[in-house]
Amino acid sequence: MAIFFLPSLLLSLVVFFLLHTTTNGAKKSYVVYMGAQSHLFDASLQELDSVTNSHLDLLGSFVGSTVKAKDAIIYSYTRHINGFAAMLDEKEAAEIAKDPKVISVFPNLPRKLHTTRSWEFLGLTKDGHIPDSSTWKAGRYGEDVVIGTLNTVTKEINLNYSYKGYGPIPAKWRGICQPGYKDGVRCNRKLIGVRYFNKGYAAALGNPLNKSLNSARDLEGHGTHTLSTAGGNFVPHTTRVAAYKVCWPETEFAGGCYDADIMAAVDAAISDGVDVLSMSIGGTGGTEFFRDGVSISSFHALAILDQLWRLTNVAPWIFTVGASTTDRNLVNYVSLGNKKQIEGVSLSASGVPGGKFYPLISAANGNNANASTTSALLCYAGSLDPKKVKGKIVLCLRGENARVEKGTECLRAGAVGMILANNVTDGNDLSADPHVLPASHINYTDGQIIFAYLSRTKNPTASVTDVRTLLGVKPAPFMAAFSSRGPSNIEPTILKPDITGPGVSILAAFTKAVSPTGLDNDKRRFTYSVLSGTSMSCPHVAGIVGLLKTRYPHWSPSAIKSAIMTTAKTRDNTRKSILDSSTVEATPFAYGSGHVNPNSAMDPGLVYDATTEDYLNFLCARGYNDTLIRLFSQKPYSCPDTFSIEDFNYPSIAVPNIQARKVTLTRTVTNVGSPGTYKVRVRQPFAVFVTVKPSVLEFKTSGEQKTFQVIITPNFAKLGTRAGYVFGDMIWSDGKHSIRSPIAVNLAS
Ligand SMILES: *[C@@H]1O[C@H](CO)[C@@H](O)[C@H](O)[C@H]1NC(C)=O
Ligand SMILES: *[C@@H]1O[C@H](CO)[C@@H](O)[C@H](O)[C@H]1NC(C)=O
Ligand SMILES: *[C@@H]1O[C@H](CO)[C@@H](O)[C@H](O)[C@H]1NC(C)=O
Ligand SMILES: *[C@@H]1O[C@H](CO)[C@@H](O)[C@H](O)[C@H]1NC(C)=O
Ligand SMILES: *[C@@H]1O[C@H](CO)[C@@H](O)[C@H](O)[C@H]1NC(C)=O
Ligand SMILES: *[C@@H]1O[C@H](CO)[C@@H](O)[C@H](O)[C@H]1NC(C)=O
Repeated sequence: MAIFFLPSLLLSLVVFFLLHTTTNGAKKSYVVYMGAQSHLFDASLQELDSVTNSHLDLLGSFVGSTVKAKDAIIYSYTRHINGFAAMLDEKEAAEIAKDPKVISVFPNLPRKLHTTRSWEFLGLTKDGHIPDSSTWKAGRYGEDVVIGTLNTVTKEINLNYSYKGYGPIPAKWRGICQPGYKDGVRCNRKLIGVRYFNKGYAAALGNPLNKSLNSARDLEGHGTHTLSTAGGNFVPHTTRVAAYKVCWPETEFAGGCYDADIMAAVDAAISDGVDVLSMSIGGTGGTEFFRDGVSISSFHALAILDQLWRLTNVAPWIFTVGASTTDRNLVNYVSLGNKKQIEGVSLSASGVPGGKFYPLISAANGNNANASTTSALLCYAGSLDPKKVKGKIVLCLRGENARVEKGTECLRAGAVGMILANNVTDGNDLSADPHVLPASHINYTDGQIIFAYLSRTKNPTASVTDVRTLLGVKPAPFMAAFSSRGPSNIEPTILKPDITGPGVSILAAFTKAVSPTGLDNDKRRFTYSVLSGTSMSCPHVAGIVGLLKTRYPHWSPSAIKSAIMTTAKTRDNTRKSILDSSTVEATPFAYGSGHVNPNSAMDPGLVYDATTEDYLNFLCARGYNDTLIRLFSQKPYSCPDTFSIEDFNYPSIAVPNIQARKVTLTRTVTNVGSPGTYKVRVRQPFAVFVTVKPSVLEFKTSGEQKTFQVIITPNFAKLGTRAGYVFGDMIWSDGKHSIRSPIAVNLAS
């Protein structure tokens, strides 16, 4: 999940998965990237035309003529990004890459979409009211901040984006409401912009697009959900939203969110005046930053205003967000014939008919003649025999196929209900899903209790109740099993993820174009749905970024990111360390700096700031040569002779190998509060000594910066008794603020 801050700031939180596709034929679509445009805002139409003509001339010189170039070109990026997308064969692509004006040529690949109580849980609202301490108030409800989502948009959401109480659309807004094919998507004072980009998708598809795809309408619900979490009407705030649809349905040949379309959308969003861009789009986890279209376009957006952020889950300029639970549970109860009662979670519309007891069967024993007991246990489509399961409650094991699909199979085979039990690695990680039949999702230990009950009972029976909402659930938050874990394999000196936020069972607006399960045979339609994923936690953080941005318009994205990270909480609502989905304590590789704590983020005291130059130095330290640096910088940039990656001013600390050496890191903090004296406190990781020099920092004015060193040495007496990562933290405090940085040190082996 990614959040970009545009013109004035850009943050991103994306977890990347790459979908590799092969295209038939010699010609494939490529993106040709040529850096930044020299004009910033307010380019004239003539200027934009002349950029397009220069693209056609360049392309024409490789494909034979400008006429052929016009046929081949898909997009000409003219506003902020300089470059184009075109149909090329491999040889042409290689030749164009050699042109001195061209920085890189990369194939147009698809990225995948990632699959509310939460605001109250974050302390923004209390008992439905907004306390004075709330960031919503301090941030003036995100007044006139425009949050964009690179995703999808729906028709229904507009109806509910009530625009009462919104002033006129901000004067800076230059976006449009692009009419689509018979879609009726309309803008208002809340949803102020809509555009769609599908030419990169069409190029990959190789066939003319179905006309119905010329629309920004949300066909699968994901976009509406993430958009409404970041800027919707859940609490009365006045953030504006804009949607840029770049993700398109899967077919045999193509599907996903294509680089060429993403770059076109980012180019447009910057021009339109979007402040924060939230991306729930996955990409290339193991790809170096410079090969990644999303990385380049977002970095670029920032560099333009000398403020950068970026996203892949590993790049330091992106905000990577984990997903954790809230203290709301949507629970129901499973009763067994032996009177035992077990609590599960669900979004099923009802309990089993009449609240009665029904025969209970393990799905493994309900298998079709042609299905293995394993596939039946997992309740694969077509694996259950109606003769065996009709009228019964079926116990299915979680894993492999979608949870809601298991319910669909039970219903198909005539079951009256389903119990979905976690497998061992799922632990306590539960999802309230909109199952098509009465169902309850239970944890691993409880699942084992039911399997045991089945194996020693002659006529086992069970019942499943209606769903109720429980608040104040403890412990909360804990980390979701599906949330990605660090360390980053590309750059282990940057601790990832950065933060965690509510991402389990998040209630938000949904599209009526599809069913809540997304399954074709599910005919239900809702305007709200509950989803889980880092796609759900990202927009929470994007929303908080928007509030901070409103309160502190001159802060850099790095300062905002630092404020959110250093004030995060590592304890849950039982005052113990945040747990992983099972009962073990989670580490910073699960939650980063901790759980986002927006009210404290409004007043962080000190911040770890970074400039575009710092980010370029980071790339230098990674060994990027001038050509590669040019991908990210508008101007040629010469790397400093000495810049150590350890000195990159990040608000967390990771040392990938401490074996027998001393590591010295440099950090600089900027005072954003009142004058004060800060003292450092270190919670020492096992088998290393961490010292901070100086250990007291005195600030006489706001804006003052102080530099200090963190010296990490192995403790030889203890080293060797343990391998792998150990964790600690460093806290600067003036008695009022606590600026906390997690420390992760790899003892290696
Ligand atoms: C809008 O949302 C409210 C809940 O906030 C709901 O009661 C209402 O039915 C929705 N309106 C439409 C038109 O979907
Ligand atoms: C285009 O899409 C619509 C809606 O999904 C569908 O009903 C129609 O059959 C499609 N047309 C073609 C030519 O595929
Ligand atoms: C599973 O859930 C039950 C409540 O239904 C709880 O008592 C139990 O502690 C949970 N299991 C684990 C391993 O936490
Ligand atoms: C097994 O056979 C049934 C018909 O008895 C069929 O509906 C189902 O699709 C088959 N399942 C598999 C996995 O082949
Ligand atoms: C349950 O989890 C275990 C451990 O990860 C795995 O070996 C097993 O295959 C899983 N069971 C099924 C049916 O997927
Ligand atoms: C820079 O690095 C890239 C990737 O490793 C390489 O392809 C390119 O030739 C290098 N350029 C120069 C000028 O060394």
